[in-house]
Amino acid sequence: MSGQLGLFDTGGRELLDLTDYREFRRRLAASDCTRCDLCRGRTHIVVDRGNPEARIMAVGEGPGAEEDARGLAFVGRGGRLFDRLMEGGGFDTNRDLLIANVVKCRPPENRVPQAREAEACLPFLLHQIRLVKPEVLVLLGATALRFLFPYRKRDALRDLVGKPFTDPGFPGTRIVVFYHPAFLLRDPRKLPEAAEHIRVLAGLLA
Ligand code: URA
Repeated sequence: MSGQLGLFDTGGRELLDLTDYREFRRRLAASDCTRCDLCRGRTHIVVDRGNPEARIMAVGEGPGAEEDARGLAFVGRGGRLFDRLMEGGGFDTNRDLLIANVVKCRPPENRVPQAREAEACLPFLLHQIRLVKPEVLVLLGATALRFLFPYRKRDALRDLVGKPFTDPGFPGTRIVVFYHPAFLLRDPRKLPEAAEHIRVLAGLLA
């Protein structure tokens, strides 16, 4: 997988040596990273939201306007929907999950991150997953799937959602794909299916 830091990127390299998640979070958020052009439009580097000791880690696409303004992942409309859905399944997203994104800086007009942006940021996401060691990794939508598991990117999302799989790159972790909350906001008919996916998640942790 690409996404290795360049040889001379000593700042990023130092961050990837950190073994304490909270220290990593603090240092990345304060880092003034310029690894890709998304840095030009950002207010905050949005590292995550939630609990690094959680058994579940969720990965979305990238911060939107509210996330950029507040420096926290999934606190906009999509995030509030995700919180409500998870609550229906008995999960508190701040306590039971650590939520991060493929890219940590807001793409202009909330467009999908480009490959070079995602690849520049991927070492940070992989380090987050390494430190959190989640029992279940929830991929929120196609962007997380495409950049973390490129060999599955041609599979239709509707065929993958709610069907757990494993990957040798993430030993001890079950992976499950959910619809992205922004998609559910656009197509609420999919909400019952999304609730079923959360029941699948609960079953994985039982
Ligand atoms: N959408 C995402 O994918 N991530 C966020 O943090 C917010 C909206």
